[in-house]
Amino acid sequence: IKLAILASGSGSNAEKIMEHFQGSTKAEIALIASNKANAFVLERAKKFGVPTFTFTRKEMDAGVLLAKLQEEKIDWVILAGFLLKIPEDLIRAFPDRMVNIHPALLPKYGGKGMYGHHVHEAVKAAGDTETGITIHLVNEHYDEGKIIFQAATKVTQDDTPDTIAQKVHVLEHRYFPEVIAGLI
Ligand code: GRF
Repeated sequence: IKLAILASGSGSNAEKIMEHFQGSTKAEIALIASNKANAFVLERAKKFGVPTFTFTRKEMDAGVLLAKLQEEKIDWVILAGFLLKIPEDLIRAFPDRMVNIHPALLPKYGGKGMYGHHVHEAVKAAGDTETGITIHLVNEHYDEGKIIFQAATKVTQDDTPDTIAQKVHVLEHRYFPEVIAGLI
């Protein structure tokens, strides 16, 4: 089973996933693709000897990314901190085979623009006493795809968006690889 990971930034989740599947006979991380040529995730891929592919939003919207994924015979697409809206034809090419991780407890804090720090700021501002992660399948309505897994962590008065982000990353790194392994 061949997996591709799409990421736009640091790629700490991508790293945990590559680590988890290293030496696996069942599945391989066949590609790390990013819309940012300087994204640190590309360095992490090199460390694991995983091929990389970079593209612009325009190229993605023109079908270049879809063509690459089909050319590489990718079976599953994993979004791990990918910040662009996936074109509908790309979503349709991977029905129930595209997985995203969202750093909050959907349906709370979903939707456009709610990613990364903005989410943790919103959780803090709302005075929520818990937050967490949501791993879901991606469909045309994006954050409304079938929820596969959620895990929560407590939020206290003393928490800041940064400390909340750290708590959420712990959950992501702990659960995302295993949830993917259970899915594919
Ligand atoms: C994670 O918090 C993920 O939930 C969100 O973007 C962040 C990616 O972090 N979608 P990293 O690039 O995997 O370190």
